[in-house]
Amino acid sequence: MKLITTLTGMWLTRTVRPFTFKSEYDSVLSFEDCENLGLYVHIPFCKTICAFCPYCKEIFTQDKCDSYIDHLIKEIHMAGSQLTQKKQVTSLYFGGGTPALASNRLSEIIAAIEEHFIILEGIGVELHPENADEQTLRTLRNAGVTKICIGIQSFGKKFLSVLGRDDFDLKKMSEALKKVRFETVSMDFIFALPNQTIDDLTSDIETAFSSGANHIAIYPFIDFTFTDSAVQPMAKKEKRKLLDDITLYCQAKGYTRDSIWTFSNDINAKYSSMTRDNFLGFGCSATTLLKDQFKINTFSIEEYQKRIQENQPPTSLTLRFTQRQRMLYFLFWTAYSTKVDPERFETFFGVPLKKMYGFECWLAKKLGFMTEESGMLHMTLKGAFYYHYYESYYTLSYIDRMWGIMRKEAFPDIVKL
Ligand SMILES: C[S@@+](CC[C@H](N)C(=O)[O-])C[C@H]1O[C@@H](n2cnc3c(N)ncnc32)[C@H](O)[C@@H]1O
Ligand code: SF4
Repeated sequence: MKLITTLTGMWLTRTVRPFTFKSEYDSVLSFEDCENLGLYVHIPFCKTICAFCPYCKEIFTQDKCDSYIDHLIKEIHMAGSQLTQKKQVTSLYFGGGTPALASNRLSEIIAAIEEHFIILEGIGVELHPENADEQTLRTLRNAGVTKICIGIQSFGKKFLSVLGRDDFDLKKMSEALKKVRFETVSMDFIFALPNQTIDDLTSDIETAFSSGANHIAIYPFIDFTFTDSAVQPMAKKEKRKLLDDITLYCQAKGYTRDSIWTFSNDINAKYSSMTRDNFLGFGCSATTLLKDQFKINTFSIEEYQKRIQENQPPTSLTLRFTQRQRMLYFLFWTAYSTKVDPERFETFFGVPLKKMYGFECWLAKKLGFMTEESGMLHMTLKGAFYYHYYESYYTLSYIDRMWGIMRKEAFPDIVKL
């Protein structure tokens, strides 16, 4: 499969040149004229560490978290002061780690952001179920948060135990969610755990919607090579059947699919930090995607803080795009929403999608991966499975490799993928 992803990458970028990430950075970033810019802030602390989790995080202590946030606020001002006037952005998402652990300081971070940016579509924050109590939810609400996402993983005790996570008080969480309202309440689940059936998952989905969620994300379990997870991954055939069954179940119930892994029972509920044309990321391990480059901040909290103290951006690696590489990023991330809008592609690149990828669009339709309706390309059930399949391999062959390196080295010289 590694060969297939590599060959597909070469074909779509029309070059044998790999994606080359170098240890270099621009002190001034070109985001002033970016349309559809999203913001992301990474808070790398958790109360306990889950063995299966690949994200950049450490055990929470109040001192470490406070010091990190002081540096984060400085990073935001360093980038924001490059603007000549306040810039409109689509949204702001806090991810982690567990950003809700810093709920008492989110209003300060948001105030720093709002000195430079105008947030149009709301603010999202990730929570661990143990943070979903009335007091934390009120603190988030008062800070201006409009969307929350709770990492449930499963309501089944046996699956929580497989993942090494503790059970939590569902009744208390659901009562708190009734008292403190958000536009979007999303809940994360992991599927394709050993012996998990479609009945286990439909029960999770219904419990989520009856406990205060109006949006759910169901991610396939990914066995990252650098984690200590002992979870046995499910066989491909079984996994495909589960993904198809989840999709068919949600469609039959009338839930809206707004990305490969997410469904909602309220058309206005949205939670996605990924489907943006451009985004600016703050904090360690945060990524930034602009028209000309993709950059990744260092994964080391210590080195991150040192760079900020030296008034330098905490970038570890930068990929400078060729036009076709940027097109591939654009198509990959917009296809994640299960739709590709050729007009948006043309506005972004100044050239029609059909001129650049006419044959590929024709082939995708011929193979039954996509249909075209009123000029819009829609992914079929088959297309969604292959996207999922490709994305899983992309995650394992690219993200796994990159993050594996970044966890060990704060500033690697070069990474070729
Ligand atoms: C940053 S965590 C969410 C917030 C909080 N830290 C928590 O765990 O409850 C992001 C989400 O990534 C997903 N995730 C983490 N590791 C994963 C893995 N190995 N495979 C699939 N999904 C994973 C989980 O669903 C998790 O809720
Ligand atoms: S899954 Fe969430 S709580 Fe667990 S280590 Fe990862 S970020 Fe932390």
